[in-house]
Amino acid sequence: MSDGATTRGSATEREEARKIAEGLEHLSGFGNEHTSEAVPGALPVGRNSPQRAPLGLYAEQLSGSAFTEPRAENRRSWLYRIRPSAAHPAFTRTGNGALRSAPFTQTVPDPNRLRWNPLPEPAEGTDFLAGLWTLGGNGDVTQRSGMAVHLYHADASMRRVFSDADGELLIVPERGGLLLRTEFGLLHVEPGHIALIPRGVRFRVELLDETARGYVCENYGAPFRLPDLGPIGANGLANARDFRAPVAAYEDVEGPVEVVNKFCGNLWAATYDHSPLDVVAWHGNHVPYAYDLRRFNVMGTISYDHPDPSIFTVLTSPSDTPGLAGVDFVVFAPRWLVGEDTFRPPYFHRNVMSEYMGLIEGAYDAKTAGEGGFVPGGGSLHNMMSAHGPDRETFDRASAAELRPQKIDDGLAFMFETRWPVSLTPQAARADHLQQGYDDVWQGLERHFRPLH
Ligand SMILES: [Fe+2]
Repeated sequence: MSDGATTRGSATEREEARKIAEGLEHLSGFGNEHTSEAVPGALPVGRNSPQRAPLGLYAEQLSGSAFTEPRAENRRSWLYRIRPSAAHPAFTRTGNGALRSAPFTQTVPDPNRLRWNPLPEPAEGTDFLAGLWTLGGNGDVTQRSGMAVHLYHADASMRRVFSDADGELLIVPERGGLLLRTEFGLLHVEPGHIALIPRGVRFRVELLDETARGYVCENYGAPFRLPDLGPIGANGLANARDFRAPVAAYEDVEGPVEVVNKFCGNLWAATYDHSPLDVVAWHGNHVPYAYDLRRFNVMGTISYDHPDPSIFTVLTSPSDTPGLAGVDFVVFAPRWLVGEDTFRPPYFHRNVMSEYMGLIEGAYDAKTAGEGGFVPGGGSLHNMMSAHGPDRETFDRASAAELRPQKIDDGLAFMFETRWPVSLTPQAARADHLQQGYDDVWQGLERHFRPLH
């Protein structure tokens, strides 16, 4: 099928996009060797690169790993498209907007605990790409190592197409549904879902509601994968079959289309004479996907204490040190708390890993909700070795609570947890929406020590 023209923002266009989004089919599974064709017979059988690809299509490989990486690490897809990706004019530099990349060297790394309110309203006509605002990150984009934390706030659908050569994009919507039109087909996500666009895959974001707001982890390092389960066994946490990959869908659009490419930290643009979302069939495992975080199978204690939050890992990007993630994506999903003689909210801690936390909805059980607190669309940064944990109010409440089984079902928080400190961009360090006085939440934690005589 052909998906027709792009949309920008009228209510009718959003309704049409929503109708498409809600009727989508998908392929299920994580890391699978999927196959999909939008037109029967478009996918070659028994070979990747026949002398003449079916239906007059061009064959093209897109690799997300080096050819020689071990089979378990290897990511690549074969695309059968109306025109090869090579058919494009030169890219020229275009403005980066508020998008920044590692290395983040413009501010002095900050050991303080920091918290931000949501991004301000976007200027009218801001699309997803223009709405990206970088908070900070680590590593080096040219070394395929590290990560960046971005937020977005948009009120218009993209007409242009974007691809990121610097890393994969983990999109965490907090407000407003999105229809992602990718080279591989269409994905629909709502707040509470995540979407992942692999390195180099072209896509366009269309809004299903008046505005869209959320978070993006740009992972420069090894592609996200499901964590090993160890003694948990064969099932649990994010189950592979709950991940949705698109089915092939293409645009047969002639005419000018702006394509923006993020390359080594800068945006480059070219005007194509056709839509590059013209893939009629594909197969492979380097594919976009989406996941509903409410399907996360939460594990926790059924006796005392609670496990470290690594038990809530949805996706992990490993480093070259076993067990040390470049970045983990962790979710605090609805769950029961039943620990006996246990301080149930997250304990006080200082970690070698650095934590950026965001809130998709409701409240987080270690922090007081409401204005000036940890609010949906806001975020907090607890860098390496910074001391944090429950605020005073939470400590007092949880220390005195009657320990009956308790359902935590009024919030959905997440964390990008990374091996290196997150350095801020100047715009994040000086933002009007950076909260003043975050340290105060830990004031008034009185001494209760009574030595025995
Ligand atoms: Fe923490």
